[in-house]
Amino acid sequence: MKSIVILISGRGSNLRALLDAVADPALAVRVAAVISNRPAAAGLDVARAAGVPTAVVDHREFGDRQTFDAALAECIEGFGAELVVLAGFMRILGDAFVRRFAGRLINIHPSLLPSFPGLDTHRRALDEGVRVHGCTVHFVTPALDHGPIIVQAAVPVLDGDDVELLSARVLAAEHQIYPLAVRWWAEGRLRLEEGCVRLTPPADVAPVTLISPTVV
Ligand code: GRF
Repeated sequence: MKSIVILISGRGSNLRALLDAVADPALAVRVAAVISNRPAAAGLDVARAAGVPTAVVDHREFGDRQTFDAALAECIEGFGAELVVLAGFMRILGDAFVRRFAGRLINIHPSLLPSFPGLDTHRRALDEGVRVHGCTVHFVTPALDHGPIIVQAAVPVLDGDDVELLSARVLAAEHQIYPLAVRWWAEGRLRLEEGCVRLTPPADVAPVTLISPTVV
């Protein structure tokens, strides 16, 4: 059975989707621990309710990024995880950390990268007037929100959308693609090879999603 560690900072809805997915014994994955940089993260309760070990590495207790990153890395390695899954983890990780976990560190971002890296993605998508928005699971590299893309889901931007409506639609898609990516990894079908994502078949997602503009 392969083991993963999930890193969170907040409410933990992606964490919950991942825990639901790994509850399926056919998916031979064990969540070794959920680690938060915030002691009050609601997601910690989600983990505890599922009987998953939790740990807190509070960034405020460290003088600089390097010492925080090093403590976090040691905490992760203490749980013996093979894959590190960032699920709403709101700290930028330094180069040394990213190199240490290269090829086994993945993130989910609420936009179709490379559009809208960084924060406030739904507001920015609405302001730009894009008709297609979505989310991305990617390997983490030192460049923020720019790593090799594993899987994306597109959602339409509908007339009358506000941040709340759009973010809920994207979040529902996040909850589908993150467990999918972890399943691919658990099945030994997903790897990073010379900076490129390799997925061995079958690629069990619809090949194309067509989204037409709103007809008025
Ligand atoms: C998600 O939108 C994720 O894409 C982003 O942070 C948010 C975390 O939400 N990185 P949750 O804590 O998983 O509910």
